[in-house]
Amino acid sequence: MDNFVCGKCGYVVFGSAPDNCPVCNAPKNFFQPDSNAIKKPADPKNLNELEKKHTPVIKISKQCGLAGAGCTDAHIKIGEILHPMEEKHFITSIDIYIDNVFISRYHLTAERLNPILGIHLKVSGGKLKALESCNLHGRWMAEADI
Ligand SMILES: [Fe+2]
Repeated sequence: MDNFVCGKCGYVVFGSAPDNCPVCNAPKNFFQPDSNAIKKPADPKNLNELEKKHTPVIKISKQCGLAGAGCTDAHIKIGEILHPMEEKHFITSIDIYIDNVFISRYHLTAERLNPILGIHLKVSGGKLKALESCNLHGRWMAEADI
C-alpha cells in the first residue's frame, strides 16, 4: 500500500487520500502516492549515526496524573542521538497518529527547542506512530504500542 503525501504541507496519510488535508486543508488532488515518503533504516537492528539521529524514540507512560486516570503520556525524542536544532538543519515537525488516524502535527523551530515532544493522550491502547521531518534528511518514523 502506498502512502499518499500532501503536495502542499507534506502530510502523509497511510491509506487513501482524504477529501481534504487535515493539516493544511488542501483538496484531494494535491495528494500523490509516494512509496518513498518515509526513510527506512537499512538495518533496523543496527542503526548508523544518521539513522540514530532521525529515527524517533517513543516512551509511553501510563502514570500521568495531570488529567487524572486515563491520561497516557507519550514522549517522542528525535532521536537516540539527539538531532541538531540549528538554523540550517533542524526538525521541522512531528506528526502523531494512533492506529493510523492522524492526531496532531507539532511544528518546531530551530531556536530554544530540543527535538523532544511530550503529549497527553486520552487513549489507553492502540499503536502510536511518530513521523518526524528533518529539513535536510526527510521523514523518519517509529511506532510503539500504547
Ligand atoms: Fe537531519
